[in-house]
Amino acid sequence: MSLFRPDIDRIAGYVPGEQPQDTGWVKLNTNENPYPASPLVAEAIATAAQRLHVYPDPLGTSFRKTAAELFGLDPEWILPGNGSDEILTILVRTFVDAGELIAYPYPSYILYETLAELQGASHQRIPLRPDWSWDREAASLVTRRAKMVFTPNPNSPSGNRWSDDTLRALVPPRGILVLDEAYGDFADQPHRMEQLASPVGHQMVVTRTFSKSYSLAGMRFGFAVAHPDLIAGMRKVKDSYNCDALSLAAAEAALRDQDWMLANRARIIATRTRLNAALRKLGFQTVDSQANFIWATHPTGQHNAIYEQLKSRKVLVRYMRFPGISPTGQFGTDQLLDGLRITIGTDEQIDTCLIALAEIVNQLS
Ligand SMILES: Cc1ncc(COP(=O)(O)O)c(C=O)c1O
Repeated sequence: MSLFRPDIDRIAGYVPGEQPQDTGWVKLNTNENPYPASPLVAEAIATAAQRLHVYPDPLGTSFRKTAAELFGLDPEWILPGNGSDEILTILVRTFVDAGELIAYPYPSYILYETLAELQGASHQRIPLRPDWSWDREAASLVTRRAKMVFTPNPNSPSGNRWSDDTLRALVPPRGILVLDEAYGDFADQPHRMEQLASPVGHQMVVTRTFSKSYSLAGMRFGFAVAHPDLIAGMRKVKDSYNCDALSLAAAEAALRDQDWMLANRARIIATRTRLNAALRKLGFQTVDSQANFIWATHPTGQHNAIYEQLKSRKVLVRYMRFPGISPTGQFGTDQLLDGLRITIGTDEQIDTCLIALAEIVNQLS
């Protein structure tokens, strides 16, 4: 006899990337920032730590004011969360009933599927073309039935970014489009929040995280930007104190130090360019990335072996497999697209990775 809800019995659950707890790894598997957060963050945490005997501000007012100023918005458009993953959970719980449809591009962030399963919602993948573009016609057949469409932009694992026009076309007629901009700060052109003020924008939610560009993956902080009517519903769903006092203080301090974030962003983009060229020299096919990682495939198709051999040298990248679709866009249960997603580390980390890759690739048959 199972005591679980049938939905819980049925699903596998989301498995995050490996987080080894011993030292000595070149860790390029979960898109963290290789550089530390602004020194202002530690100061803000120390100050906030003096007041841990009282509850935090349930609405994160001070953070929202700072973020609103930066993005040129009213603070009522912002909802802070315990990582952007929590925001995604809040979104599903707020807007999607059991049986309603959640759609998302495939391959992309697999958590969307798990969230749909947990909610008892139905879900449908929208296959991307082999060049990672949208088949707009095929997409509209799905999105017009959806209550919620999720899409990362830039996408993961590919790192490419789609135009605002392409994305606007994904807004479901009777639903919400969630633009998951976890990697938005690494793109050439930042998303313009003004879009959200348009009528169709009132059916859009943008999510952002502090785990990547602001170097705060260990802190757990993200936020949503949306019309205040949408935010009002989401506030009913969130835990009263979903963000603790330390993370609110840390995020606000990180946001205030834009120079720090932008300097790290510039370094990461320079390293990204270098890694991309070096991978191609080694025979990999790569996608031009607008994020802090690169998707690489090798003509031998031996991605799992390459991953394992890197791991044996304590270089950890992400081996990802997407069943049901092939590199040429064929669909079917026997099809498989797989490859390596490599996070942009420091120059030194990337050099270590490249030296190992050169050795490994040389030995591939
Ligand atoms: C596309 C995408 N969305 C959201 C997240 C979650 O970020 P957070 O750390 O804010 O929960 C990730 C993390 O890797 C991601 O890749």
